[in-house]
Amino acid sequence: VFTIDVDALLARIGPRTKLVFIANPNNPTSTCIDRDSLRRLVEGVPSEVVLVIDAAYAEYATAADYAIGHEYVAARENVLVLRTLSKAFGLAALRVGWAHCPVAMARLMNQVRGVGNVNAVAQAAACAALEDMAFVADVVARNAATRERLAARYRALGLQPLPSQANFFAVGFPSGVGCSAKQAFEHLTRRGIWIRALADCGMPEHLRITIGTDADNERLFAALSEVLGR
Ligand SMILES: Cc1ncc(COP(=O)(O)O)c(C=O)c1O
Repeated sequence: VFTIDVDALLARIGPRTKLVFIANPNNPTSTCIDRDSLRRLVEGVPSEVVLVIDAAYAEYATAADYAIGHEYVAARENVLVLRTLSKAFGLAALRVGWAHCPVAMARLMNQVRGVGNVNAVAQAAACAALEDMAFVADVVARNAATRERLAARYRALGLQPLPSQANFFAVGFPSGVGCSAKQAFEHLTRRGIWIRALADCGMPEHLRITIGTDADNERLFAALSEVLGR
């Protein structure tokens, strides 16, 4: 299982714990915890410990039981939700993100943030982007449809994509599938396809592969078929 283990996380909180940080959907696993698990986490984190919910990939999550958690910000003093325009809004190069947090936390962050940390041009672009939610809806719908198709294609090759709620997959290479994740990584790199090996995340038999354009995806699957000998 490659999802956040809420009980294990809560069990590790001790007197020296100041902050608990999760990404939901998570990177690099692409998986989510559900609404009930999130509630259990929020309720289990002591009020003097800050809980950060990084929801960078929230827009892509289509599961009915997914919850971002904004409601907990108003209800508690210790919860912070992070969002970004780097993903579904397509503005990664502008470096615009935002936090939904209690006023007291915003005051503290304003004391330490650099001057002009989000520059005026980026702010203007972000405001324009937020007016165009039809663009985001289109990105999200196309991502979800492509995600479903690609999951089936990975499985048809004998690979094991984790259930993705994001715009990428963590793809498992089971033993006997034809090559290891490392061999696939090297082959794809030789073909000019840049993906992420996950050995440094403790997932040596998985690769993190973005959902690309149709043309990207065709190149990817051609190269995967080659290296798997299919
Ligand atoms: C979980 C998660 N949070 C945040 C970010 C980065 O967001 P930003 O571009 O707003 O710094 C990423 C980007 O890879 C991410 O995977």
